[in-house]
Amino acid sequence: MFYPEEIVEEVRSRNNILDVISGYVKMQKRGSSYFGLCPFHNEKSPSFSVSPDKQMYYCFGCGAGGNVITFVMEYENYSFKEALEYLADRVGMELPKGEESKEARAQAELRVSLLEINKLAANYFYYQLKQPQGRQGYEYLTGRKLTDDTIRRFGLGFANKTSDDLYRYLKSKGYPDQLLAQTGLVTIEERGSHDKFWNRVMFPIMDVNNRVIGFGGRVMGDGTPKYLNSPETRLFDKSRNLYGLNYARTSREKYMLVCEGYMDVIALHQAGFTNGVASLGTAFTSQHGVILKRYTDQVILTYDSDSAGVKAALRAIPILKEAGISCKVLNMKPYKDPDEFIKNMGAQAFRERIEKARNSFLFEIDVLKQDFDFEDPEQKTGFYNRVAQKLLSFSDALERDTYTQAVSREYYINYQDLKQLVNRMGLRVSPETERAEGGEGRTPFVARERKREKEDGVKRSQRLLLTWLIEDPALFDKIEGIISPEDFKEELYHQVAQMVFDGHRAGDLNPAGILNRFINDEAQYKEVAGLFNASLRESLNQEEQKKAFAETVKKVKKNSLDEASRAASDIEQLQKIIQAQKELKDLNI
Ligand code: GTP
Ligand code: MN
Repeated sequence: MFYPEEIVEEVRSRNNILDVISGYVKMQKRGSSYFGLCPFHNEKSPSFSVSPDKQMYYCFGCGAGGNVITFVMEYENYSFKEALEYLADRVGMELPKGEESKEARAQAELRVSLLEINKLAANYFYYQLKQPQGRQGYEYLTGRKLTDDTIRRFGLGFANKTSDDLYRYLKSKGYPDQLLAQTGLVTIEERGSHDKFWNRVMFPIMDVNNRVIGFGGRVMGDGTPKYLNSPETRLFDKSRNLYGLNYARTSREKYMLVCEGYMDVIALHQAGFTNGVASLGTAFTSQHGVILKRYTDQVILTYDSDSAGVKAALRAIPILKEAGISCKVLNMKPYKDPDEFIKNMGAQAFRERIEKARNSFLFEIDVLKQDFDFEDPEQKTGFYNRVAQKLLSFSDALERDTYTQAVSREYYINYQDLKQLVNRMGLRVSPETERAEGGEGRTPFVARERKREKEDGVKRSQRLLLTWLIEDPALFDKIEGIISPEDFKEELYHQVAQMVFDGHRAGDLNPAGILNRFINDEAQYKEVAGLFNASLRESLNQEEQKKAFAETVKKVKKNSLDEASRAASDIEQLQKIIQAQKELKDLNI
């Protein structure tokens, strides 16, 4: 769907940015601007400003900036189209329908209907809970120490014993089978349709905008499956939603608590930890990481204390790290999960555990250590090698040293010895030696790291190659007949490579001139500049180079896009940049 520029501009200009943002952030006048606490990063003193004159916002703390449309997009996690529709609706403006394809409109209408049905269903379940037939459910929940307030806040409900209860209710509201089938709430069959959920307590799952997008249903007791969850639907994407985030996002705590279960989130919130979220019965994904990063840059993992919980934590740590979130791991022992811990020990004790949460790197080493028998000298050496190898994952020398110190202190390893080991290993790390030392597959961390490097390897080598060719045109002879511009698959890379090769053939290889052709798009020309400057001057080892390089590129790109959005003067330019920013987030470097 493409809205003409005038329409976009009209929506923007009719929505006063100060009015809109004041609905989300408390703003105070200071000079000609208004200031408040930035919703895009955590801070104690206001550096987030809104200028009514410019009709723009800018955060002096984190650099977030844009106009009213980008604000709604960023804050609400809306697409451009959704943001535009939201803002148009806000001022009672009708957007033209004509240009939307039939298909797109049908999809949009389906979404609206599904949301409507989910909301009805949630209300229905909630209503049942307080009825005589819902008594067992209500008693189950109160038996688990949930208060009426909590039940209301999370909209908990009850699905009746009758197996087509909800179906009949929704039919009575006039919804056709064909539509109901797509809600995941009912199964439509010739010989009689029935509900997916019956005789269960119900947990509606809300997105960040408090819209019900799915359900979890729990048996009241020991039956199986313990939880039944809505299937993925048009609305419900498990890898992009976190249970409790609709509330947690407004918590003023500077970190978030990530746990495993619905009940954990609810118990946390009831105990005052309104910054608790859970992935929805699935593993923590990189999309979860990106979404969390919008609200925080610190996570405390409060996964179950059993081995499955430890595994889940080991998987989540690198994902969080990649999203730019620093992370700690809370020790729940001797209890299984936050719900049990809080029930037994209370909120204060839990807060103390939060304060004592373990640095994620040291947690990884703790877990690693369990694989080794320290009575056996060979295994002890093996452990040291693995530790050194893990220390090498820090590309920043200072950071690596800090951790080397911490590890030597925590595990009683002589600091100088460990440092030397790290340095020695840094000089000779290759997949072969790593394998020989038993590094392969020992931890998911290493495996993941390697996979990521491989995925990025292609583009990185393309950049390196372009840089080398620019710096040393004699190399063209070496790749003659092997490499051509067609080998650079990505559009921009391809364009640039074509220009580089053409330039060389014409005897006029002029990188700065090539750069000029991208000058109208700040994001692009910075990327092209990056293609021409891919070598690393630092004397890093191979592993470090790969890592440092990938990180550098991501940072550079992100930075340039952020700057571009600040400098942007018209909406079209801004749209492009926002698109590019989205793409950057999905980019797997
Ligand atoms: P309680 O036993 O009610 O305290 O559950 P919990 O919140 O402690 O959940 P648990 O740690 O057992 O599981 C964590 C999450 O995994 C749950 O919140 C569900 O989302 C999901 N889950 C648990 N059991 C099942 C199951 O049998 N099937 C499915 N699909 N998901 C489950
Ligand atoms: Mn539990």
